[in-house]
Amino acid sequence: MTAVKSLAFLVLASFVLATRALIFKDCGSVYGKVRSVAVTGCDTSNTCILKSGTNLNLTVVFTSLEDTEKTKATVHGIIGGVPLPFPLPQADACENSGLICPLSNGQNYTYTATIPISPAYPKIKVLVKWELQEAHGKDLFCIEIPSAIL
Ligand SMILES: *[C@@H]1O[C@H](CO)[C@@H](O)[C@H](O)[C@H]1NC(C)=O
Ligand SMILES: *[C@@H]1O[C@H](CO)[C@@H](O)[C@H](O)[C@H]1NC(C)=O
Repeated sequence: MTAVKSLAFLVLASFVLATRALIFKDCGSVYGKVRSVAVTGCDTSNTCILKSGTNLNLTVVFTSLEDTEKTKATVHGIIGGVPLPFPLPQADACENSGLICPLSNGQNYTYTATIPISPAYPKIKVLVKWELQEAHGKDLFCIEIPSAIL
């Protein structure tokens, strides 16, 4: 299989695997494998509804495919194709995020994080792109969750 075909297969497989839970897309997990993704209150809908003025709680179970001492989380809201950074209270994912660093190749980890949905955010559809990077900036996981702020 070409890289593009295997990537397309992985994207399709992640949709199929996710049908009983939250819908998400794997947007390029290079040094990790996503096992499950959950957002509090978003278990049954194709669009995750983010209520203005509440917190979004994310849990991702993944397998690390390398040893890494550092992890850094970034979140973008993609609106009309344009990625805008979402302020993340805890960007160092080795702190208060359920991970015990360094991460080891082949081990399963549960990452948890909370971001406030500010009442100042516009009430629109947004693709939430959440990445966890290893020490060299490559993605341990990259997930996209179709969402709407209400
Ligand atoms: C997210 O977690 C916080 C703290 O655990 C809790 O107060 C909040 O209600 C949760 N948010 C949702 C949408 O469940
Ligand atoms: C990690 O989780 C996967 C899927 O749940 C499981 O198949 C695998 O055995 C686990 N690996 C370890 C090292 O626990």
